[in-house]
Amino acid sequence: MSSSGETELLHTFKGIPFTTRSSPELLKSLDSFDAREDDVLLVSYPKSGTHWLAGVITKLYNTQVTITSPIEFGDISRLEELNKLSSKRIIPTHLDYNMLPPNFKNKKCKMIYISRNPKDTAVSMFHYYRDNPNLPTVDSWTAFFDMFLKGNVVCGSWFDHFLSWEEHEDEKNILFLFYEDMKKDLPKVVKEITLFLSLNVSDNDIQDICKKSSFSEMKNDTEKENSNPSHTVCALTSNRKLIFRKGAVGDWKNYFTPKQNIRFQEIFNEKMKLSKM
Ligand code: A3P
Repeated sequence: MSSSGETELLHTFKGIPFTTRSSPELLKSLDSFDAREDDVLLVSYPKSGTHWLAGVITKLYNTQVTITSPIEFGDISRLEELNKLSSKRIIPTHLDYNMLPPNFKNKKCKMIYISRNPKDTAVSMFHYYRDNPNLPTVDSWTAFFDMFLKGNVVCGSWFDHFLSWEEHEDEKNILFLFYEDMKKDLPKVVKEITLFLSLNVSDNDIQDICKKSSFSEMKNDTEKENSNPSHTVCALTSNRKLIFRKGAVGDWKNYFTPKQNIRFQEIFNEKMKLSKM
């Protein structure tokens, strides 16, 4: 199980564990956030490809856009800071649908939800827990596997997060994407994003953006520190180097024992029985 650091690094808000980098005061005041019609939200459960998607999206605009750190990250001064930013704001978040500031929903802001096979997400998150001083330490994959299935990890249960958003999948202002589809055919997914955001980007430019957004290019950029290493779109770290680990589909097979796989599948089938996934 986690070490004694857990009590200092995490707190619970509305039943969901957050790191102390998201202050309780900020979380309480999120409902009063003033969204703008042209805000774009990038929504994900952690370790689903958020930085990849953010890297692609910022390259699609030829006008000035600001990608912020997640709305739930920081202290009470955060909302004021976001208020001062000029448009257009691209705002990442790991919040589940029910915790999203209602203004984003009322104003029908565009939201892109990226999801990933939860087995790969679990493995990615395990490494993230191990390497990230802002998260409690975990002793072993076996211990983390249990924590993940119980939702005793930062941002809570993968199942609850996914289901809270999937319920709104048919709303016109929400686009659902999958990490695995991006791996399979990135240009196709990028085209879909441009249509959703009403952006006019040529096929040549899409090809070019896809090349620049490959795992190796993005990892290299971070290592060369062309980009600010402390600018991440994830609420859980301020170190970009922790983000680009392996970038593969199916790495879970290297971690799950056959028994763990059966257990995961049983819980998946039960929790997701009403899901279209
Ligand atoms: P792994 O730990 O499996 O390698 P997030 O940005 O939501 O924190 O997700 C991080 C995961 O996305 C990591 O998965 C990371 O390697 C992967 N990732 C980041 N950029 C990527 C890219 N350009 N192509 C493929 N995967 C990428």
